Amino acid sequence: MSSHSVDPAQPQPESFAFTPEMRAKADVIIARYPEGRQRSAVLPLLDLAQRQAGWLSRAAMDHVAEVLALPNIRVYEVATFYTMYRLRPVGRVHVQLCTSISCALRDSDGVMRAAEEVFGIPFGQSNADCTLEEVECAGACVNGPAHSTSSKVQSALDAPWKKSNAPGPASTARRRKSAMITTKI
Ligand code: FES
Repeated sequence: MSSHSVDPAQPQPESFAFTPEMRAKADVIIARYPEGRQRSAVLPLLDLAQRQAGWLSRAAMDHVAEVLALPNIRVYEVATFYTMYRLRPVGRVHVQLCTSISCALRDSDGVMRAAEEVFGIPFGQSNADCTLEEVECAGACVNGPAHSTSSKVQSALDAPWKKSNAPGPASTARRRKSAMITTKI
């Protein structure tokens, strides 16, 4: 599993601040929470910061902490827990492949090898064209192996992988409803 933490070697911008448009959205989100519970907005505000910059720099996390009047560490611990937050810049295509148990049993390793072959880089690395990343559970366990490519989740994957921003629908062969058919009924 690739680590989901701030890479000390990653160059960081000096500063970050929400644009006026994003700050207005942040204020709308913050107002949804009861008085004294504004810290609950940390997840959507991190999402806004990521949408603005493409990834979450330390400065972006610090800005979210400042807006919510939280200690910086409270924001870091959330951002480093959820793999949907990007802690480094990503390539044009961002592949997050689940390799947790349900997907591993359905050959996520084979999908991983196919993706590495197509994109020409190992998992855990990036180039301008692509970022390949392992993640813990895409919430589609019954249909593993699953991945999210540029924020679009797809399950029931089969190698070989086609080089595309939006892979086509997966085969439903040998499946009943959404789960694999493993025994005859
Ligand atoms: S274990 Fe892979 S989607 Fe849940």
